[in-house]
Amino acid sequence: MVSYSSYRSESEEVAAKAAAGFHTDTVTPEKDADFEFLFTRAIEFRQETIYFIIVDRFNDGDSSNNEGPNPQLYDSTRQQWGKYWGGDIPGIIDKLDYLKAMGVTAIWISPLFEQVEDLQFENAAMHGYWTKDFKRINPRFLAADEDNSLFKCTAFDRLISGLHQRGMKLILDIVCNHSSPDVNGNKGKLYDDGVLIADYYNDVNNWYYHNPPITDWEDEEQLLYYEMAGLATFNESNINYRNYIKTAIEQWLDRGVDGLRIDTVKHMPIWFWQEFIGDIQTHKPSVFIFGEWGFSNPHDTKSPQFANDTGMSILDFGLCGAIRAALAQGDEGGFHLIQNIFDCDRFYNNATELITFIDNHDMPRFQSLNPDRDLLRLAVMLIMTSRGIPCIYYGTEQYLHNDTNGGNDPYNRPMMDKWDTDTQLFQDIQLLSKLRRLNPAISLGSQVEKYITPDVFCYLRRYRDSRCFVAMNKGNQTTIDLENTELEDGEYNCILTKRQFQVRGGKLLNLELRSKEPIILSYIGDRVKGKTIARVQLNGITTQPGETVVVTGDCPELGNWNIERAYALEYINPNTWFGEIPFVESAGRAIAYKYALWRNNNALLYENSSSRRWILAEQGTVKWQDVWKN
Ligand code: NOJ
Repeated sequence: MVSYSSYRSESEEVAAKAAAGFHTDTVTPEKDADFEFLFTRAIEFRQETIYFIIVDRFNDGDSSNNEGPNPQLYDSTRQQWGKYWGGDIPGIIDKLDYLKAMGVTAIWISPLFEQVEDLQFENAAMHGYWTKDFKRINPRFLAADEDNSLFKCTAFDRLISGLHQRGMKLILDIVCNHSSPDVNGNKGKLYDDGVLIADYYNDVNNWYYHNPPITDWEDEEQLLYYEMAGLATFNESNINYRNYIKTAIEQWLDRGVDGLRIDTVKHMPIWFWQEFIGDIQTHKPSVFIFGEWGFSNPHDTKSPQFANDTGMSILDFGLCGAIRAALAQGDEGGFHLIQNIFDCDRFYNNATELITFIDNHDMPRFQSLNPDRDLLRLAVMLIMTSRGIPCIYYGTEQYLHNDTNGGNDPYNRPMMDKWDTDTQLFQDIQLLSKLRRLNPAISLGSQVEKYITPDVFCYLRRYRDSRCFVAMNKGNQTTIDLENTELEDGEYNCILTKRQFQVRGGKLLNLELRSKEPIILSYIGDRVKGKTIARVQLNGITTQPGETVVVTGDCPELGNWNIERAYALEYINPNTWFGEIPFVESAGRAIAYKYALWRNNNALLYENSSSRRWILAEQGTVKWQDVWKN
């Protein structure tokens, strides 16, 4: 009997990651520059576990900076929710070991930019979305007495190096749509590293639109050009504005930022984003970018279309809403709501890179909807084991919530008050983050529903010979039979509870699903090994069950145009085929390739184009993202 229970040691993990093409070591600057410029399109982020921090509410590492330039904006009693409470960059640095221990591999921090220094109806810009200067840092977030110019401060560099030393990444929250609202008679006063360059009320150079606030959220014109809640909205057709914002963001990237979360992407025209993403990724090809397309939902094809047309990933509000409805709000559709979202993955080119979450700073925390810790546990397990990149809102692991006014903004931003590494959720996230890094079925693979009712959800993740089976029951205890788990026969221990399960003949019979108890069974198969690994994704091909997509080409790894020896990809969803092709002999060489489809009747259909060409890196991983040509 085979037993699939324990994890590998750290050194095995590093070896497994290296074998799988995940970067484990530091590349020399020269190598990095060559490599990135010539060969890579995007960094691989799918095995990450993101943690989203509201900087002011996480940890006060340096109390001498708390009053900032205007002491009236600070509330030392932490009773006035609209004021600053003291969190800062030194405070985050102090907690990096805590985050690392939990399995967090990337942090997304609320915007650091210098903000307007005044109150608007008792509210300061503690959130970071009312920017005054995109090249300066909010002085309250730095160590005391630091110069807050991005070019001079050091706390930010210490944060970056602290993260990178621990193998963690930094995602910066940026805003391109607007600067600040009217705060005591000033609006949209914008500075370039301390020099005034635009002012909404004296807009001589047309940096802003001067339209009223949005009233009809279905009207495309209003969404793009009117003001969101009175925020001074940039006029992106002004080239000076575009140069300013791109230069500012590039300067942050140059300091070592690994990823960007972009605010309010729905409110700017797509051509702006296409130019912006193109320029940013030319400047730093390895940056991972995702946007907030407010209330994105694949049932309305606009948001997937936006992601496909810009190449940026987006926050998966559709899945978030379904999880909250099913698990926190007791919607009678239950798990069907969640499966309905997964069924729409075909609308995205990159469903496996969507950012998944269960709550954030703009909605009540999950526990304000439902304080049941076991249901929260299932919700977290769901995003940690299904497609996409999970993002945990700060404090979730400590069951942090304040339910005043239903937990709505600002009560969804309490001060973090505990750092307990023994909570069940802290430990779950630790185990599941490790599992995500080790088992490519979770981060890269396809998902098959195995059993579903409103209360019970069982699914399998699969990639090559790796498998991860997940089961959850939000209702009363029940027993089910699963006839075809697609798991190898053997004995499995649940990753979280250590409960034992026997798979025989591929079946899990008399599977007892205890109320609100998670079950996760994992089998990690062989990893792809090669000097250079191409992560190949093909979109836009329609296939029938049983058909296979292959990559054929002029090199040995692709069969030297012998179609019988072409490299087979794996089905991920109706719009996506994926595979990792290991190159050894052809690493460092130029190759030609194309895709073909083996039909069920053994007929072969080549794509209708001349060969594609690629110069392969000497080593490392590269991403190909192609669209089938009919
Ligand atoms: C979305 C952010 O998440 C939210 O918190 C902010 O207020 C608005 N965008 C405006 O920037």
